[in-house]
Amino acid sequence: MSQEHQEQGCERTEGAEVVAHAFAPGKVILFGEHAVVFGHPAIAGPLEEGVRVTLEKNASGGIAIEGCDEVSALARAVRRCLHEFRLTDLKVSFSGDLPRSVGLGSSAALAVALVRACAAATGLMMRPQGLIERAHEIEREFHGNPSGVDHSVAFEKKLMRFVRGQRGQQIFLVKPLEALIWVVAPRGSTREHVASVGELAATNPKRVEKIFCAIHALADSAVESLERGDYERVGHAMDENHRWLQELGLSTPEIDDACERLRAAGAWGAKLTGAGGGGAVVAICEDASALARSLAVDPARLLMTRWSSSA
Ligand code: MEV
Repeated sequence: MSQEHQEQGCERTEGAEVVAHAFAPGKVILFGEHAVVFGHPAIAGPLEEGVRVTLEKNASGGIAIEGCDEVSALARAVRRCLHEFRLTDLKVSFSGDLPRSVGLGSSAALAVALVRACAAATGLMMRPQGLIERAHEIEREFHGNPSGVDHSVAFEKKLMRFVRGQRGQQIFLVKPLEALIWVVAPRGSTREHVASVGELAATNPKRVEKIFCAIHALADSAVESLERGDYERVGHAMDENHRWLQELGLSTPEIDDACERLRAAGAWGAKLTGAGGGGAVVAICEDASALARSLAVDPARLLMTRWSSSA
């Protein structure tokens, strides 16, 4: 693999059946989901788990997309991306270990991995911003009005503060931070939840703006606490962010219960993560493995991550 392709996070396999493949991670939002759609900051970090896209030569010609309905948003997104890169006669397949449709950024990971694989297949060296913009366009097929936080984290693979329309800024940690993610329940589509918050903002703009400003202040203070290593304070701010998400009607009794159990088991803080209406919760803690063991939850529903500034 050339150094350029290593930097793009993808691989090109010359002369083999596989033309190119690329991986991108899922993400977890610690602060600011929904508010970020309206221009407020979010804090989010990458997961270990992600999506891999493989492009292979299609001997029968044309584009074949494995395991997906031809009229789905996924098929539309893939065809559009391949068309933009002027690629054809390829079989596109997906694999990975990231739970889907639970608020952990699976569609953004797919979009970023697809763009990286396509760039590698063409041999084109693209600027990071160009790749991020293409991934954003693809994600629109899935979510209509994404803020860009999911695919920015999937692309940069760093804990970051993100504001819509800007490149994310890495948050530098003085010591590693561990998080436990618990996939609690399935949920509706991100598009629907974003639309429902949009309706609330249209009918009750003052109330929603007050909530978003409170979340904004929590995110700003959390950046400072993260950079100082004051993770207990970050945890308290996450609990508060969760209360604002409850006010927006985005939590559920199962999600609230999972947050309570995580706090009672010693987490510094816990909240709903992602679009809400079900999905996953994130907790930060001293030792994610110990917290996971103390919960008596099916391990298949738990993910762990550890961020440090060198990652
Ligand atoms: C989805 O992961 C996060 C939301 O804020 C939507 C977005 O930012 O596009 C709910």
